[in-house]
Amino acid sequence: MKLFSLFFVVLGASANLTDKTQCPTTCVEDGSVDYFPEKVEFEYSKCLRVEYYDTYKVSYLDCGPGDIPETVLYVQCGCSVPSSITANTTITVPAGNYGIQSTSNIAYLHYLGMLGQMKLEIEFSSDWYPYTFTDTCHKDNVDSGVTTQRNQDPQTDDGGLDTSGDNVEFVFHEGYYAKGNLTKPITVTEYLETDLLAQIEWIKFFALPFNLEFEADEVFDEIKGTMDCIGANTATFKDLYDTEYKTLTVMTAAYQPWSSGWVVSASCDVSKDIYCDVFEDLGVTKIGKDYGFTVLNNTEFEEFGAKIDVWIYTDDFDPEAMVKTYPFLQNFDSVKEKRVYDVAKRTMPDWYTSRTMESDALYEDFAKVSHGKGFAFLDGQGTEHDYVFLRDVFTEKSIDPLATPCPGAKKVSLAEQCIVFSEIELAGGAQKHSRSVLFFVTFGAVVISTLSALLA
Ligand SMILES: *[C@@H]1O[C@H](CO)[C@@H](O)[C@H](O)[C@H]1NC(C)=O
Ligand SMILES: *[C@@H]1O[C@H](CO)[C@@H](O)[C@H](O)[C@H]1NC(C)=O
Ligand SMILES: *[C@@H]1O[C@H](CO)[C@@H](O)[C@H](O)[C@H]1NC(C)=O
Ligand SMILES: *[C@@H]1O[C@H](CO)[C@@H](O)[C@H](O)[C@H]1NC(C)=O
Repeated sequence: MKLFSLFFVVLGASANLTDKTQCPTTCVEDGSVDYFPEKVEFEYSKCLRVEYYDTYKVSYLDCGPGDIPETVLYVQCGCSVPSSITANTTITVPAGNYGIQSTSNIAYLHYLGMLGQMKLEIEFSSDWYPYTFTDTCHKDNVDSGVTTQRNQDPQTDDGGLDTSGDNVEFVFHEGYYAKGNLTKPITVTEYLETDLLAQIEWIKFFALPFNLEFEADEVFDEIKGTMDCIGANTATFKDLYDTEYKTLTVMTAAYQPWSSGWVVSASCDVSKDIYCDVFEDLGVTKIGKDYGFTVLNNTEFEEFGAKIDVWIYTDDFDPEAMVKTYPFLQNFDSVKEKRVYDVAKRTMPDWYTSRTMESDALYEDFAKVSHGKGFAFLDGQGTEHDYVFLRDVFTEKSIDPLATPCPGAKKVSLAEQCIVFSEIELAGGAQKHSRSVLFFVTFGAVVISTLSALLA
């Protein structure tokens, strides 16, 4: 916010920017005004770069489909288009109405408060694969006509991909599909990132057309902050109770009818998926098979999985039906100890569309899976965490994400707050400041007395 007030002072009377989403009345192009005082940087993404100039900015996507690079030029409204930049798409910013082609964009745009300007959603829906809403605000916008949904199969229907009559200034283009005649496509390929923080960092990319860099940084820092905090507390926890600390093994696997077998992902030292860093932070060892995904038959799967402590089932899991169909599962430690979790707490469609931008909540889910009730301490506040995306298949039912009313223009994180242990002086008792004292007295003592029970 400091940066922004400075912006007003510098601008003085030459332009009236009461709102950064407005167009300056006159563009000052003599180098005395920086129209983008709030800048983002991509630290984790292997795909994205951005360069800032006084009156325009340029983003580079280096890992698009087929590795074809894409350059987008964002020119501040009222300013002239620089001739020095060759871009695939040029738009005026701050932009207004836009379209999307992928439900996984929705969470990013909701965090930025931008759902209201989404005029068009091109999606594919069929009897076999029906469209499912997972964001109440987005559904409200579709119901009230703010957002128009168009059902179009982008794979077979490229010829119809024409948005010239849709009153959109640009379309976030889903990288897998053809561009057809989309209005000013801006390609999005967050799914090509191999690092969880890189995927979250795409919120900074979604911010560029709207000059919402400050907001994007805030969301990113908050999500990363929570993840770092849980990770740091886990490390402290382990250091303090090293001898009692039991390292768990975990597998991610599910029966997939189209593979006619059990699909098992690789261990993290064979091939890293985006959650490997999380598993490592949390001190659980992911046991897997060969590179990528391996399909096992019943005999092979029993041999592979029976002794693994925790099973994260990467689909919907019904314990009764599963054990009835596959009686050998009763021999699994994870089933006997009731340590099986699926990813359908908020239904599978929500898992596919929202979890990336809710990684803080998912991180807490993983922490609870790997530490049981002990997790209540990992957030530094002693609050019991309710699973958000993972579901304890033996005790919990799925919940409909639409049961939660629209929280307002901006998405609200589903994660718990977290305080780093060192700030509450968990072990030492040498309190540095008053907040620590308070926590130590009201909560720290309880931690110490119950910790060993939980670790057993
Ligand atoms: C700036 O815009 C606001 C709101 O439109 C207006 O009230 C104000 O008079 C304008 N200031 C200048 C210096 O033009
Ligand atoms: C962007 O433009 C460059 C240069 O014209 C071209 O080589 C590249 O294929 C374009 N990228 C896309 C995604 O169309
Ligand atoms: C794009 O628009 C042009 C001109 O209106 C039309 O001839 C062409 O068929 C359209 N192509 C696609 C892929 O929609
Ligand atoms: C499972 O696969 C193994 C080979 O890895 C094979 O020997 C065995 O017969 C298969 N079992 C079944 C039930 O198909």
